[in-house]
Amino acid sequence: MRRDESLKGREQFTNQRIINEGWRWTESVRNIHSPVMNILVIGSGGREHALLWKLSQSPRVSRLYCAPGNAGTAKLATNHAVPATDLQGLMALAKSQLIDLTIVGPDDPLAAGIVDLFQENGLRVFGPLAAAARLEASKSFAKEFMVRHGIPTAASHTFSNSEAALAHCRAASYPLVVKADGLALGKGVVIAQTREEAETAVRQSMIEKVFGDAGSIVVIEEFLTGPECSIHALVDGTNYTLFPDAKDHKRALDGDQGLNTGGMGTISPSREVEGVMAERIRHEVMDPFVQGLAADGLPFNGMLFPGLMMTPKGPMVLEFNCRFGDPETQVLMRRLQSDLLDLIEATIDGRLSSVQPVWDERAAVCIVLASGGYPGPIEKGKVITGLKEVEVEEASADPDVVIFHAGTALKNGMVVTNGGRVLGVTALGETIEEARTKAYAAADKIAFEGKQLRRDIGA
Ligand code: AMP
Ligand code: GLY
Repeated sequence: MRRDESLKGREQFTNQRIINEGWRWTESVRNIHSPVMNILVIGSGGREHALLWKLSQSPRVSRLYCAPGNAGTAKLATNHAVPATDLQGLMALAKSQLIDLTIVGPDDPLAAGIVDLFQENGLRVFGPLAAAARLEASKSFAKEFMVRHGIPTAASHTFSNSEAALAHCRAASYPLVVKADGLALGKGVVIAQTREEAETAVRQSMIEKVFGDAGSIVVIEEFLTGPECSIHALVDGTNYTLFPDAKDHKRALDGDQGLNTGGMGTISPSREVEGVMAERIRHEVMDPFVQGLAADGLPFNGMLFPGLMMTPKGPMVLEFNCRFGDPETQVLMRRLQSDLLDLIEATIDGRLSSVQPVWDERAAVCIVLASGGYPGPIEKGKVITGLKEVEVEEASADPDVVIFHAGTALKNGMVVTNGGRVLGVTALGETIEEARTKAYAAADKIAFEGKQLRRDIGA
């Protein structure tokens, strides 16, 4: 959608006001703009709340919808209880609510072809087609792509036969990394220190099928070392726009101990990507990525989020994600000053070279508050107290702190826990240190039975 110049001028004015006033924009500011769009965000995590929070600042947004959403998204959008995996239900919702644009949060609907389905039905949607979303949904497909196009990654072998995989484990040196090929809720990767651990991982994945079909193929790869970081880049088929880097904290406990989780907290910028490394990521990962898309005839319009390890040899790709990260999005949206809708539309329409996002120079930190037992079994329905004191609508609250909901629900007028990761407490500060102090101060005012958090995010 091309915009006329006068509208652009008004937008710049409004965007400046939004930047100046933080998120406390007023309804009247929004109403002077048209045409406006109805937008549906699919998903129910902190990532989706953060995307809606950012979209709600856009003067071009009319109504926001979320499916299925959480107690936080309900404050910005109309929630509809359609699961993110019910593609037909989501399409019916988009049609009935006259949705102008749908933004897909999680990986499963992308892998299942939601973008293909919406496009075939004339609906505008953000995310890659299923053929390209395979870069996340199949690790062996991603490996082949990286090898073909010279993108640095760990040396690996792919197995569809368990006997051959076990024979490989017997002959290998350790540590070694065993990965289920498909989507396994972040649980499909085992760092095996010994042959026994590797063989157990292979048996569980390929013979006992603990990940279902996602584990019938395994990728066994070389163990790499170095700090990790998350890179996000919007890709419009031919061009890309790199976001500032972010760092996730994947293990459940302080000091990177305990089990792997979806992510217990993020900081942006991280300390891993400076000067030379950022240039190397462009030249060694992103440039060959878009050239590889062209060479393979693979269309990709959406978010590419490679997980990287900064090894002594340089940046190496651990995995490709074809969506926004969670909780990376929470810190990135706090730092994005430009209109997210402009960026998303430019990505869909192949116009990324004409937009330059503006970022807040300040640092952002997100602390995840999780349910007791996460990432194992958890109990839901615990009443959450203290939100009122810290949520940004409250005059007394620190304006640099924003709480993004993840596993929350409304029950009898109260906000209760409804999942493993419950809230993402985010703060901006002049430094990471200042941001983390503010975030922990707010996190400590929120209480629910079993509340679990890491104390070392950004430390
Ligand atoms: P992935 O889902 O592929 O990102 O893997 C999950 C986590 O496993 C990563 O965040 C890393 O901490 C670790 N990991 C994955 N691949 C490797 C590797 N080749 N070497 C060392 N650690 C790895
Ligand atoms: N935070 C990691 C992910 O979104 O996959």
